[in-house]
Amino acid sequence: MQQKIIILDFGSQTTQLIGRRVRELDTFCEILPYNKFPHDDPSVIGVILSGSPYSVYDPEAFKVDLSAIRGRLPILGICYGAQYMAQTNGGKVEPAGSREYGRAHLTEFDHENPLFKGFDEQSQVWMSHGDTITAIPENFRCIASTDKVKYAAYQAEEEQLWGVQFHPEVFHSLQGSLLLKNFVVDICGSRQDWSAASFIDTTVAELKQQLGNDRVILGLSGGVDSSVAAVLLHRAIGRNLTCIFVDHGLLRKNEFHNVLHDYECLGLNVIGVDASEKFFKELAGVTEPEQKRKIIGKGFIDVFDAEAQKITDAKWLAQGTIYPDRIESLNITGKVIKSHHNVGGLPEKMNLRLCEPLQWLFKDEVRRVGRQLGMPEHLIARHPFPGPGLAVRILGDITPEKVQILQDADDIFIQGLRNWKVTDKDGGEESLYNKVWQAGAILLPVKSVGVMGDERTYERAVALRAVTSTDAMTADWAHLPYEFLAKVSNDIINHVKGVNRVCYDISSKPPSTIEWE
Ligand code: XMP
Repeated sequence: MQQKIIILDFGSQTTQLIGRRVRELDTFCEILPYNKFPHDDPSVIGVILSGSPYSVYDPEAFKVDLSAIRGRLPILGICYGAQYMAQTNGGKVEPAGSREYGRAHLTEFDHENPLFKGFDEQSQVWMSHGDTITAIPENFRCIASTDKVKYAAYQAEEEQLWGVQFHPEVFHSLQGSLLLKNFVVDICGSRQDWSAASFIDTTVAELKQQLGNDRVILGLSGGVDSSVAAVLLHRAIGRNLTCIFVDHGLLRKNEFHNVLHDYECLGLNVIGVDASEKFFKELAGVTEPEQKRKIIGKGFIDVFDAEAQKITDAKWLAQGTIYPDRIESLNITGKVIKSHHNVGGLPEKMNLRLCEPLQWLFKDEVRRVGRQLGMPEHLIARHPFPGPGLAVRILGDITPEKVQILQDADDIFIQGLRNWKVTDKDGGEESLYNKVWQAGAILLPVKSVGVMGDERTYERAVALRAVTSTDAMTADWAHLPYEFLAKVSNDIINHVKGVNRVCYDISSKPPSTIEWE
């Protein structure tokens, strides 16, 4: 049986990060709303309680009776989780001074406690809560302090129950991963057998059983998730999987043919549909970004549906949905924000059942699975690309001519990033492409004056955007070398007819977004 850790989500922004840290320990975990503990699941080996935007004494604070778990399974409360367990067992939690935010050091800790095995003196931890525990329950013991926080960590006497007021999951808690390892591996007894290879073996076996001889349809986008889902399914059911790859005419330069070729080399049964004319017709004259998105979304479903109807005996629609797409994360109102599907509405309309083989994986795990499946690195390490494609990178109306200009400029930029090598701290070489999260060119709706040879020009301007990020929720503009930017600008202006000016976007998100539209 696959062991698992349950993370009960009290609404903190770092709950997903706890999940990723546990997975990094090759241990499977599930993130569930705070009041949805699966009491009848025998595979649970431990429980982590997350932080929360609330104070434990707020009237709206999330409350749940955990007495049925206590004593049966090891529990680790983090921040709010620790304060909640302290307060509900007779301790006291009060507002703290703002000095308790941010970096702190464990000035004292119990070296014998299994939670701190291997910890350095003065280990740096990260505090991020407006409250602090001012008294712990009678049968709880303080096991760590900082110079400002007396009860930085506690353990219930003779019990497998711990609380830490700092956040071991964040990068700035330097030995946070060690603390989680001590909990997950030593205390909960994880066998650490959750790996890409084990995931592939179990999932392929499950898919064979689930799908039998049924036909399955999958929409490919050229992105990592749908590609890995396709290869995994292909391994399970072979030619019973039919993939559909729609070209809306707004992909990168040569992308349709290159990606189609990659898929065919992987042995996939792919139908490529060039629907660019339909999309250009429907988008003609449209300038409003959300309207562009709606037209493309609906057009995509129509084309996909028409192709899928031809596979009359299909029973399943497969999608590359990944775990962060479907975690039932809580927002501040306590409402669960439900999952959304990639191809909205299709399964019901087509009377198909949904198959989502990557639904338990985080993005980095999808990449690991892809590598383990032997997929080429350029497919795995591909930057994210928006569904509406270049439509949201052409400001104003869309014409085939503008698309071509942008494709050419974008291609020079992206190939340039791939070819430009930088030396890592450890002496290795890496391309700039792999150093940024996402990059692309944007065609601006302005013309400006230039001079080429003896001629005055009056042509278009292109903006370049490259960002660093971990999840696209926040992003910083990538600090690309000036020499690189100079070369790309030069190459674009010299080779792309119709462009005489290149700018670099130096806005971060927030307050800007990654895409311009
Ligand atoms: P923003 O612009 O919101 O983008 O900072 C965040 C991430 O989402 C991608 N993006 C989209 N992806 N359909 C998609 O499939 C869309 O309409 C869309 N809009 C933005 C964007 O490329 C970035 O990775």
